[in-house]
Amino acid sequence: MPDGPSDFLWGSATAAHQVEGGNRHSDWWEYEQQGRLPFRSGDACRHYERYAEDFDLARALGQNAHRFSIEWSRLEPADGVWDEAALAHYVDVVAALRARGLEPVVTLHHFTNPAWFLRAGGWTRADAPARFARYVDRVARALAPSVRWWLTINEPTVYAMEGYVLGEWPPCRPWAWRAAVTVVRRMAVAHSAAYAVLHRHRSDARVGFAHSAPLVLPCRPTSLGDRLAAGVRDAVLNRAFFRLIGAAAGPRPRPGAMDFVGVNYYTRHVVKSEGLGLGRLVGHVCQAPHHGGDGPRSAIGWEVYPEGLAAVAARYAGYGLPVIITENGIATGDDALRAEFLRGHLAALDGAIAAGVPVAGYFHWSLIDNFEWAHGMGARFGLASVDATTLARTPKPSADVYAEACRRGRAAADGSSAAARLSR
Ligand code: GAL
Repeated sequence: MPDGPSDFLWGSATAAHQVEGGNRHSDWWEYEQQGRLPFRSGDACRHYERYAEDFDLARALGQNAHRFSIEWSRLEPADGVWDEAALAHYVDVVAALRARGLEPVVTLHHFTNPAWFLRAGGWTRADAPARFARYVDRVARALAPSVRWWLTINEPTVYAMEGYVLGEWPPCRPWAWRAAVTVVRRMAVAHSAAYAVLHRHRSDARVGFAHSAPLVLPCRPTSLGDRLAAGVRDAVLNRAFFRLIGAAAGPRPRPGAMDFVGVNYYTRHVVKSEGLGLGRLVGHVCQAPHHGGDGPRSAIGWEVYPEGLAAVAARYAGYGLPVIITENGIATGDDALRAEFLRGHLAALDGAIAAGVPVAGYFHWSLIDNFEWAHGMGARFGLASVDATTLARTPKPSADVYAEACRRGRAAADGSSAAARLSR
């Protein structure tokens, strides 16, 4: 599950609003036009038109799977109004993946909503899960025959924090704690509803969600305050959603919650206490050097910490299900750093597999440089660059590092690697 070792999924990931361009019916687009966000996505990478070329690239880089998202606002531009041409487009996208031997992994919600949905109250509304399930049913009717792997929602906790606590993403409501909690709860219900819909359409579907999984550690292990802050942060960011969907840690997973654990890993949070008080309980991420010095940092300040990938993979295996790394990557203009990032993280992954962690796939974020939300096009996560004027894609040298791992079906250059065994 993948069913056999040879099915290990090696791919890269994208999301509709970040690559497609012209996503006019979404809430992000609306907020961008209103000047309420720092950047406009505009044409992004015009992946909506150029997807075949992008899939050629993924194939040429030795990948055998691809994660992408469907844009709900394209399918349902107004409440209850369905755009059949948009649905047909995604049918074509899946066919294009299959034609290139790329296993599709479909995300149904990746941060953006239809603008009408947010205007009506978005995920705070009691009927939000039903509306989402209605959309999922529409998608599943068309795609389930050719799609087995699904991610219902990308990073629900991040969505709620960014929109309702930090207030940096639509609906840009800072410190709306109660709303944030409601949103996460509704998303949990929506996940379960989508899980049931997808399994109704396809009994062998594999359904999960993509969990943002920072490794959370106390800054000073001897400090009770730091340990407490790290504990609260970990509970909020890393445990709450699993509880809400009824997934219990332990050797026997509760049927119906998820079929695999999707893990997005980027960095660790070394947490320092900020004392008591709502909003302070989660502490802050300490920027001082730790444990003999930190790793390098990405262009947006995230510490490179490859060991964390092995640690989170092992931790989420505790749910008794296969783990898929659904995102891992670095924002940097220094491609040599990306190559180093890849080598380190793939080696860590290899180590985890060798230690018996049931990892079933790895998706690099991202295939191409794209629209990085509140950082715009400037934060470059791609294995290939995209020319700002011509939109021509050019693979970076780091793409070869990943291609090598994909081709050999293993995470490190070591011939005895566990991933190699897994993918034989
Ligand atoms: C994830 C998100 C992606 C991408 C990535 C890099 O949280 O799912 O859309 O932006 O982070 O920041």
